[in-house]
Amino acid sequence: MKKPLNPNSAEATELFKELQGNILKGHGRDHAMHLFISFGSPKDEASHVTFLNGARDWISHMLADHVTSAEAQINDPDKEEILTILLLSSQGYEFLGENRPEGGAFREGMRERSHKLNDPKFDKWSPRYQHNAEDIHALVIVAAPKSDEESAKTELEKMRVSIESELKKFGGAILVDQRGRQERNGEGRAIEHFGYVDGVSQPQFIDDGRDKAKKFDQRAPLKIVLDKDRHGCENYGYGSFFVYRLLEQNVDSFNGAVLDVARELDVDPQLVGAMGVGRFKNGTPVTTFDAPETGYRPSKDEDFDYDDDSDGNRCPYHGHIRKTNPRGDLGHGVVGFIRNLLARENTRRIARRGITYTDEKNNTVGLIFMCFQSDINDQFEFMQKDWANGNNFSRFGTGLDPLIGQDGGPQEKRDFPNWPTEYDSEERKRIKFGEHVKFLGGEYFFAPSISGLKKLAKC
Ligand code: HEM
Repeated sequence: MKKPLNPNSAEATELFKELQGNILKGHGRDHAMHLFISFGSPKDEASHVTFLNGARDWISHMLADHVTSAEAQINDPDKEEILTILLLSSQGYEFLGENRPEGGAFREGMRERSHKLNDPKFDKWSPRYQHNAEDIHALVIVAAPKSDEESAKTELEKMRVSIESELKKFGGAILVDQRGRQERNGEGRAIEHFGYVDGVSQPQFIDDGRDKAKKFDQRAPLKIVLDKDRHGCENYGYGSFFVYRLLEQNVDSFNGAVLDVARELDVDPQLVGAMGVGRFKNGTPVTTFDAPETGYRPSKDEDFDYDDDSDGNRCPYHGHIRKTNPRGDLGHGVVGFIRNLLARENTRRIARRGITYTDEKNNTVGLIFMCFQSDINDQFEFMQKDWANGNNFSRFGTGLDPLIGQDGGPQEKRDFPNWPTEYDSEERKRIKFGEHVKFLGGEYFFAPSISGLKKLAKC
């Protein structure tokens, strides 16, 4: 678990059979369905047994008929099959009367932890997500095979009907049905709703034998994404902790803020956007280029760091990708210190698995932000709380991450982002940017191993 996985090793073969899909590698489909599931609310001890047996049978049925292992995902490179994974919340384990995976954040659940992240209060969450944490037991993610939109939607709908009827047999229910539809730009690349290519820089858990990177190595040890599943088989029974957050994006206000800053600095709005995100819309990193490179192919070229831009003259410290992956940015000067620091920073990395959504009824758009990791507290929460919301990260007075920083109200004084007045300038100007992403609800889950699910189902 200390190294990336050699895909041709015996270890990989065994592990792929045990892991659920979408953990080591994203499903990459354009249409997906995310179902928050309740196993029901038994009124007394006697009826609890009926619900419990029903929930176990349902898990067993999901496992036999639907759940996609990492092995099955790898054997379907063209994404022709439907992909389904089944995750449990801390309350789900409680309901089943089973020992829960370790981890304070996971066990407390997102609602309890929300204030630490400066999230809006529970009564400000989307009404669709305002369920008692005790009622949310599982999450099922279903990603449709690659095909035209209508067929994909039909596949998902068929699956929803089937899951719902199985749940109804014992009193379970679907609490939330959240559809995701991946936006793409003119070149067919996945983008988020502000228009930037997304899902580019990811830890690589499977070693593809590439030459070692010169500046920043994306290869990552399995231990940052996998944790031993206490219910799983001895050698390869691993699972992964999962964060689910619905984030609404206000595209008009974001674009307005970009234009305001551009006017005030008298620079191209494209550059302001890039200084906020850390990349131009097509993925070109602003720390390396002053304009979008034609035909930039990010997947090949993630080998950059901030060594040549240590003062933040090109990519300011507040840039979203510099906040969320500093790439060894803090330790300049002392070689050993850098190495240690880089190692520590690298343990914060997360496997992002988000997909965009469009809410046609309310005329809103956003990102279903999702990520896997081995420790929610040390990875996602640390990244959101200490880095993105951290006024003094990575330098004193940096201000919030302009994409996802949450102020949390007037109790704390925050600095406006400090923008270079032009590309590669030492001169700075503080200009307000504001918050354009709103948290609407979510929960923490655990993706058990295949043998762990079998054990929970008692089959
Ligand atoms: C609506 C909300 C969000 C938007 C619009 C957004 C957008 C982006 C974009 C455009 C990129 C650059 C492309 C890429 O490397 O994939 C990116 C990278 C990244 N984002 Fe976000 N993001 C959002 C939420 C979050 C959240 C909540 C987190 C974690 C707390 C996060 C963590 C990251 C990380 C770790 C990277 C990769 C940085 C790197 O390795 O260079 N993002 N995001």
